[in-house]
Amino acid sequence: MEINPVALSYEEHGQGTPVLLLHGFPFDRTIWEPVVPMLRDHARLILPDLRGYGQSPVTDDVYTMRMQAEDVARLMDDLEIEKAVLVGHSMGGYISLAFAHTYPQRLLGLGLVATHAAADTPERRQTRNKTAESVKHKGARVVASSMVKTLTPKQELIEPITNLILKAAPAGIVGALKGMAERPDMTGTLSQINVPALTLYGTADQLLTRDRVEMMVQMLPKGWMVEIPNAGHMLMMEEPQQVADALLQLFQMVKTQD
Ligand code: MLT
Repeated sequence: MEINPVALSYEEHGQGTPVLLLHGFPFDRTIWEPVVPMLRDHARLILPDLRGYGQSPVTDDVYTMRMQAEDVARLMDDLEIEKAVLVGHSMGGYISLAFAHTYPQRLLGLGLVATHAAADTPERRQTRNKTAESVKHKGARVVASSMVKTLTPKQELIEPITNLILKAAPAGIVGALKGMAERPDMTGTLSQINVPALTLYGTADQLLTRDRVEMMVQMLPKGWMVEIPNAGHMLMMEEPQQVADALLQLFQMVKTQD
């Protein structure tokens, strides 16, 4: 299948080692805003809106993880960045793993934030496809109402996160749901990722289990895990300082391996 990468919208802060921060589903680059002030003096941060989200082009495709990895590679090409650290939140992590597999030579380090390497179970796939059908008819509110309570234990974040989801284009939600539903199991590829790889896990994450993260750490040759007590799925918004500290550790590991 031919993949036509789109030009992603992005913002940039700081200078130094390029670090791309990839948001999860169904958000946009603004989820990373709370950590930017803590990281901008230590790296060149690039925050894209993924295909279908924020200010990036919305297309009617199935947004496979491979296709989205190609969008990221195109952004790097356009910015003349040969190698970068990829930090991916949830779906952004699935995309980072697809990128690591396709472009191992372009990866300096990996940050896997509230994410895992397994494929969907048949039940999960079915739910995603059903949700995609309802979103086509009823819009983003279907996802906002079903998802938001599972995303964070912090009551004060429910409203901003709901508003963020409501901004998402229905075609973007459908494309990503279908792409996630058909993503392959990447577990077998982890042992080939030979760069520093941080996994970040919030102990109150309702969308992820600890054993899935531990399993990744065991398989990643240079992997380690940082746990953030009582944080949920949106840990960069919930505990920005702790997330930034863990990412700074990753940047340091990347520098010392040069
Ligand atoms: C995300 O935050 O990107 C999603 O929860 C990922 C998923 O639905 O598997």
